[in-house]
Amino acid sequence: MGKEAYHRPVMVREVVAWLVRHSGIYIDGTLGGGGHSLAILQALRDKGLEKRSFLIGIDQDSFAIAEAEKTLVSFRERTRFVQGNFREVAGLVNALRENELRGMEVTGIFLDLGVSSFQIDTSERGFSYLRSGPLDMRMEPGEGQSATDIVNTFEERELADIFFRFGEEKKSRKIASAICSWRNERGMITGTQELADIVRSVVSVPDQQIKSLSRIFQALRIAVNDELGALEEALKEGAASLSPQGRIAVMSYHSIEDRMVKHYFRTLATDDWGPKGVGLREPLHKAVFTLVTRKPLIAGDDEVNENPRARSAKLRVIERKMYSGEVSESDS
Ligand SMILES: C[S@@+](CC[C@H](N)C(=O)[O-])C[C@H]1O[C@@H](n2cnc3c(N)ncnc32)[C@H](O)[C@@H]1O
Repeated sequence: MGKEAYHRPVMVREVVAWLVRHSGIYIDGTLGGGGHSLAILQALRDKGLEKRSFLIGIDQDSFAIAEAEKTLVSFRERTRFVQGNFREVAGLVNALRENELRGMEVTGIFLDLGVSSFQIDTSERGFSYLRSGPLDMRMEPGEGQSATDIVNTFEERELADIFFRFGEEKKSRKIASAICSWRNERGMITGTQELADIVRSVVSVPDQQIKSLSRIFQALRIAVNDELGALEEALKEGAASLSPQGRIAVMSYHSIEDRMVKHYFRTLATDDWGPKGVGLREPLHKAVFTLVTRKPLIAGDDEVNENPRARSAKLRVIERKMYSGEVSESDS
């Protein structure tokens, strides 16, 4: 399968332009089909930085790793693949840095959040209400609780919470109640189409139906994979692993994720003056990062027209300062 067929990467030019500036270790925490990784490696080569650089590609999905291995075959010598969760990025990368990548610094970290087109389009993975399949939604197939487990064992209130918090669905309570009635009257919900029918039974207006279906499926996916918890840990671990002048770039497609990234990046880039009114003369902690993008970068009209997935993409970038209190020349 070609990389375009597996997943068409979003804002590739922007990611490369804002991320790739120095040699060192680049971590792609969401390898997918390897589209962004390929562009990063090509940019390193074009800039003459290839020899002192390495790319570590992480994905929790073994199908993604297999696909990316094909995409990146011409950079085999400069690439390592790790099947795992990016929430453990520091541990995964340190294991390599203690051995074959000893002495190398982490210069760039990239996250392209969510699921790939391949994952959504594979009916057996159960991510889409448009495809009939088991209600699964695990990004790491077979590991941890599936969407079937959640839908059939969580209490009504917990389900409503998931739909409201992660899907911002207004009819979250009614949909959770309809799920529990189905469970009582008809037994387990095990397929994408059963869940879709339940949502349709609550939301009857066609336009709203589609929106609610997307929101409910998205919310469940976020809960199944603990996507917000994983992002929070990855941002912390990533920031701690990065070398001076290294950058982190995160692309998100969901407002909750973008807000998390924005707030965490701001915290990293702001001096800590302690509680208000204490009147310190020096901050408790000086910011060691600087914001590269104050506002998120978004895809251009041409890309959005060609790839609807790019419409909601938001890219934010942060850079570690040279050393505490000083910013690098490239800060702008
Ligand atoms: C949007 S796709 C990335 C596409 C990729 N940039 C490309 O060019 O093909 C997101 C990928 O990240 C993976 N993923 C999502 N959350 C993850 C996590 N917590 N740990 C590891 N991989 C994750 C998914 O399995 C999926 O393959």
